[in-house]
Amino acid sequence: MKRVARRSTLVALAAGIVLLVGWQVRAETNRVKFPENLEQLVHYTTVRRGNVTEHIMTTREAIEAVKNGQPVPRGTHFVLVDYRDGKLYRYFVMEKGDGWAADYDERRRTGDWQFQWFWPDRSVNVSENTGRCQSCHQGRENNEYLFTSNRIPDFSGTPIE
Ligand code: HEC
Repeated sequence: MKRVARRSTLVALAAGIVLLVGWQVRAETNRVKFPENLEQLVHYTTVRRGNVTEHIMTTREAIEAVKNGQPVPRGTHFVLVDYRDGKLYRYFVMEKGDGWAADYDERRRTGDWQFQWFWPDRSVNVSENTGRCQSCHQGRENNEYLFTSNRIPDFSGTPIE
């Protein structure tokens, strides 16, 4: 009897480990790093929705590339700074890297772009499945996977609303 009880404890433990590993796989981190140059990024557009305000920014080089119809250079970050009722809530970050597409199978890929959600302290939200970011942004394949790139040609210093 005692033996059986011990075995079921072991089984429960193993199940727990499997769950934990499964959770880690779902909440994978990836290659995206929080941009060190956040303060230097150019805020080119603002999106407002109810109590949500999003400041969207990228490098000057990426803005020039989009304006000239060129591919965005590798190493570029796009950052969506998400405020709720005027308070910083989270950062959504896209980063493009050389050969990063190969990290994912074809169905999930968003070119060489990877996605990440960072909290205000710049730690990763480990319970987010960034496959969801990719699946929505996949619809923007012809625009570098960006939703607001079409605002960039009109940008000349004041964030477009
Ligand atoms: C259901 C669709 C959807 C999902 C899921 C989604 N996004 Fe977006 N994303 C958008 C839209 C639409 C915009 C344009 C801004 C807006 O309308 O709020 C956007 C804008 C952005 C931008 C600014 C650059 C651009 O594309 O214009 C970044 C960066 C970004 N998203 C990152 C992320 C990250 C990181 C995740 C996952 C944690 C994510 N997104 C999930 C739809 C989505």
